[in-house]
Amino acid sequence: MMNEAIPHLTDYSDATLDHAFATLEAEVRESAAAAAGDVEGFRLHWLGRKQGRLKLVSEVWLKLAPADARRALGMRFNQLKQGIEAVLEAPAAQSGPKLAALDVTLPGIARVAGIAHPLVTTMQRVVEVFHQLGYSTALGPEVETDFHNFEALNFPPNHPARDTQDTLQVAAQGAKAERDRLLMRTHTSPVQIRTMLEQAPPLRIVIPGKVHRNDAADATHSPIFHQVEGLCVGPDITFSDLKGTLDHAMRSLFGAGVTTRFFPSFFPFTEPSADVQISCIFCSGNGCRKCKYSGWIELLGCGMVDPAVFAAVTAERRRLGLDDTLYDPARVSGFAFGMGVERIAMILHGVSDIGLFYSGDVRFLEQFA
Ligand code: DAH
Repeated sequence: MMNEAIPHLTDYSDATLDHAFATLEAEVRESAAAAAGDVEGFRLHWLGRKQGRLKLVSEVWLKLAPADARRALGMRFNQLKQGIEAVLEAPAAQSGPKLAALDVTLPGIARVAGIAHPLVTTMQRVVEVFHQLGYSTALGPEVETDFHNFEALNFPPNHPARDTQDTLQVAAQGAKAERDRLLMRTHTSPVQIRTMLEQAPPLRIVIPGKVHRNDAADATHSPIFHQVEGLCVGPDITFSDLKGTLDHAMRSLFGAGVTTRFFPSFFPFTEPSADVQISCIFCSGNGCRKCKYSGWIELLGCGMVDPAVFAAVTAERRRLGLDDTLYDPARVSGFAFGMGVERIAMILHGVSDIGLFYSGDVRFLEQFA
């Protein structure tokens, strides 16, 4: 920064003083710009206790001035000083040194945006298909009672049907009545019961969620997995409604060229029950390794709600002091279905090992970005 000597004043008229101080103020502005963020350099240049410009101004102009000019000089001197301080306090000066150290030409720090997990997006896709049909989402707890998970769904205590779902029991439940004992839910079906205890028919709900079974992990099994369940209850629901709904849902999910077929099956809570198969999406039904040369892929279970389920709901509503006429099996009928999310995601994305979904391996997951 230039450091010219402070010129002696020729006289103390207002015009001379104005001019002298205006020259210095211009110098302040110039040096502020030239400092380019060097706040400390600027401060020393102007306010430095020994060599600062202001100190010189004070010595050359103020101290030598006759007494009657001191006031006019002092006022202008203070203004100049305030101008210098204002430069120092300006936000640009505060961040000056940091800005000077920032090289905007360096590559930035890239933050990779996260994505929804493929199981979540698959679950959302299935749920969305049913939302389009007017279904709403219902959710329930993962720690469930024996009543909701089994008994009300027509799995009586000690009935062999319970053996089809290897159950993880919560410890130390022995003192409770069997219906109140806690377990990890083995399917999303208990949310059917919970919803019928809370809402009046007609009912159209879709239930996404996590379920737990005491299954050994292998390429297609995991002790924790996901299901999407559905329930439709009304005064006149028929098996044709079930077929039409699931046929539409499968074509929405896997493509309009897909056909469905319904095979007799058994679930305690539906009668009749069926397994739904879709024509193999890999070979269009011609037979390939993926469909074990059958041309069909089995995808979900379904059926008409067993009257025993409506009877259990009715009895429980009565026990709870709720309207026990709403789900009278003589007045309502319905259908239900349930499917495994992992299985659908594996088919949609050609994944052959279920474990990849839980490994957290970024190389696998980023394929879905
Ligand atoms: N809860 C059955 C299971 O986990 C799946 C299922 C089958 C659900 C048929 C249903 C149904 O609602 O109607 O194996």
